[in-house]
Amino acid sequence: MINVAIDGPAGAGKSTISRATAKELGFIYIDTGALYRTVGLNALRTGADLDNAESVAATLTDDLKVELRFIDGEQRMFLNSEDVSLAIRTPEASMAASKVSAVPAVREYLFDLQKKLAQENNCIMDGRDIGTVVLPDAKVKIFLTASPESRAKRRYDELCEKGMDVSFEDVLADMKQRDYNDSHREIAPLRPAKDAILLDTSGFELERSVALIIKTIKDNI
Ligand code: DC
Repeated sequence: MINVAIDGPAGAGKSTISRATAKELGFIYIDTGALYRTVGLNALRTGADLDNAESVAATLTDDLKVELRFIDGEQRMFLNSEDVSLAIRTPEASMAASKVSAVPAVREYLFDLQKKLAQENNCIMDGRDIGTVVLPDAKVKIFLTASPESRAKRRYDELCEKGMDVSFEDVLADMKQRDYNDSHREIAPLRPAKDAILLDTSGFELERSVALIIKTIKDNI
């Protein structure tokens, strides 16, 4: 199977770029952030203390069901059989995802699922540690980044489009806090793999980023 790893901070355009690229190459697109978001949402709903690793780990019970299904080619997330694809996108769920993703038991819990998907499918998998931890042998590794302001602007526009009531300042502050959490945690911190291709998409039109990435992947597979 051909696996492509795309890592980078929130709002660098990973999901939009990965989705478009996967479509062009006929691969499936796997958004691993959605897995952490689903575990985060479950932790929120069950009233766990998100700043306490043991409390979060205790939410990973035997009867917890975190499922990823493809419906019309699109990934959807199910938590105990409920479709939570929209519920995992709120700012609260984003922050919960960032917190639970620092808990080793959560990363272990999601590791096998990600590995299996990559073994069974030609895929573009995006996340934070795909090139470094989950798929260290990925055929192509890309690390996408952009300035915090340009990433916050993208995320703000996305949330507004979904009808969510948020302010740009809050989105920027959240983004900076999550960047800090994601890159300073002890386990699988956000960083480029040694053999990753680094791309800064600040100020890039989406089409230009997609074209660049498709070319980079085609040149490397
Ligand atoms: O990509 P995203 O914003 O949907 O990710 C949500 C959170 O999950 C983010 O704060 C970091 C975490 N995450 C992670 O630790 N490892 C991944 N492979 C993907 C996401």
